[in-house]
Amino acid sequence: MQRPFGPSPFKAMSDHPPSSPRPSKLAHGKDVDVGLGVIGLSPEEYPPLPDNVVADPAAGRLDPRRWFRSPERRLEIEIGCGKGTFMLNVARENASTNFLGIEWEGAFYAYTADRVRRAGLTNVRMLHADAVEFLKWRCPDSIIDVIHLYYSDPWPKTKHHKNRVVQDKFLEQARRTLVPGGELRIVTDHDDYWQWMNGFFDRWTSGKDTPGSLVFQRETFRPPPWVGEGQFVATNYEKKMCGDTKTPHAAVLRKPR
Ligand SMILES: C[S@@+](CC[C@H](N)C(=O)[O-])C[C@H]1O[C@@H](n2cnc3c(N)ncnc32)[C@H](O)[C@@H]1O
Repeated sequence: MQRPFGPSPFKAMSDHPPSSPRPSKLAHGKDVDVGLGVIGLSPEEYPPLPDNVVADPAAGRLDPRRWFRSPERRLEIEIGCGKGTFMLNVARENASTNFLGIEWEGAFYAYTADRVRRAGLTNVRMLHADAVEFLKWRCPDSIIDVIHLYYSDPWPKTKHHKNRVVQDKFLEQARRTLVPGGELRIVTDHDDYWQWMNGFFDRWTSGKDTPGSLVFQRETFRPPPWVGEGQFVATNYEKKMCGDTKTPHAAVLRKPR
């Protein structure tokens, strides 16, 4: 399966869940089962974008709340679940909230979906797609309570900075899709990416040159109550790369009520 780089919505959305089960390198060659249609989104639930989507952006919108047994519940999304430890913990600790995990790397998507299925969690669905494209082309206005973005790839080379998740087009879509009062929660250990993010945060909290002069309110990041002492979100990456030695950077951007 191809990684959905590039600006074309058609390329990004040509990405559909793999058939299951299939062997995974992450699972040391064991079969993983994404629970297609139960945990992993099936092609029927996530059809290709319609041909007229560029002329009519609303034509591609889906309602992700309908993918859950109890669609009336709060909806939180995690962008880039990696091996899925945060998703498992947050979903277990908040059983009456729905969680959508979006992961574009096939092996990580399958690994996390398999863990969620084996854990028997009924409040998690997994989508194999580019989360930035998902927000732009698929997600209706004002339906997400929290967007979690933890240890997003820093793309350290200058020529690759355009691939960073945090930039205007993402912040615009995050603000549009969050409910009033909803939060974008961000943690990174990468100093240069943090500096880059702060340039965007400054503009998006002052409204300077943002579309429609829209703003977020910036707040202090408070770790969820279930993480250990000194941890921020206790993801696989955080435990491996920060351990007890490095303190990551973190912020909350809240959409005003
Ligand atoms: C450095 S890893 C961190 C994984 C996990 N959040 C953690 O802290 O352990 C970044 C993850 O985000 C995924 N990712 C990056 N950009 C993405 C995007 N636009 N949509 C979905 N997943 C993305 C990558 O495939 C990778 O699994």
